[in-house]
Amino acid sequence: LLVSKILVTGGAGYIGSVAATVLIDHGHEVLVFDDLSTGHKDAIDPRASFIEGSLLDLSALKQATQNCAAVMHFAGKSLVGESTQKPDLYREVNIGGTANLLAAMKSSGVERLVFSSSAATYGQPQSDLITEDSPAAPTNPYGQTKLEIDQMISASKLSAISLRYFNVAGALQTKQGWISERHANETHLIPNVLKATGENPLKIFGTDWDTPDGTCVRDYVHVVDLIDAHILALDKLTSHHEIINIGSGRGNSVREVISASEKVLGRKIATVDAPRRDGDPARLVASIDKAQKVLGWAPARDLTAMIADHHAAQK
Ligand code: UFG
Repeated sequence: LLVSKILVTGGAGYIGSVAATVLIDHGHEVLVFDDLSTGHKDAIDPRASFIEGSLLDLSALKQATQNCAAVMHFAGKSLVGESTQKPDLYREVNIGGTANLLAAMKSSGVERLVFSSSAATYGQPQSDLITEDSPAAPTNPYGQTKLEIDQMISASKLSAISLRYFNVAGALQTKQGWISERHANETHLIPNVLKATGENPLKIFGTDWDTPDGTCVRDYVHVVDLIDAHILALDKLTSHHEIINIGSGRGNSVREVISASEKVLGRKIATVDAPRRDGDPARLVASIDKAQKVLGWAPARDLTAMIADHHAAQK
């Protein structure tokens, strides 16, 4: 059996650390590359090798890509709200950093890439379900950087798949414990719902959106299902670049996430209505037909499982 070494950039972050563990469980050798700016050293699978380095350091990337069979690229700045405050930082790290990674891959002769793209590339959609052919018109700098990276990958000669994630949630249970989202400054909905208290109620960002209950609608997908899509993608890389949505194909409003969480917790969640957040589109829901056709993938875990797993990981 030929063991292949996979470079996992951002492998100390929420999604990347789950990927590293699942890849190792599938028999791959994993090298994690992360600058620990938002990730956690203790989230890195103990069976993985680790280089502490930045995407802005080309020589560190050249070293990291040596003898790798493929790269899974998760590293980058990933917050919609922050990107509207710091657009230059997002361009530098996401676009400049990925340009460095592609240059390093070229110099090391690595031709296979799975990239974390985003639903934020689409912007405010024109149709109910977003397909990969839907027009790309990001409403925030974060989405703009992910779109430009997808274009950069298309222009390269790499065998690549960009997975356009919708809203990732949930956690992975391992023998060492749970791997879950642990951001110092948490902005994501489900973690914030679960930690809301009477003194610190969940802020609902906008109750006057053009949606059935006035709150934003998103498509939530379990991190374990998401990483399963990456593993399938690794096997489906062809000589060109494919872009594939990864979501559940269903929309849930902020209020629906709150009521699903109340059922999981068996108690009320304190909330307060707040103004709209900059850069948010009203509704983002994926068509996942292409993921089913090309990858043979379908999500297996529902919103309740995402909430319950995140809750179990926090205990
Ligand atoms: N929200 C609240 N209160 C909070 C946090 C979030 O009302 O305390 C709302 C947001 O306004 C939004 C929804 O909950 O309507 C989901 O917000 P998240 O911050 O959890 O997720 P986003 O939709 O902003 O962004 C996430 C990822 C991005 C990715 C995007 C794709 O962070 O990387 O999904 O849809 F691009």
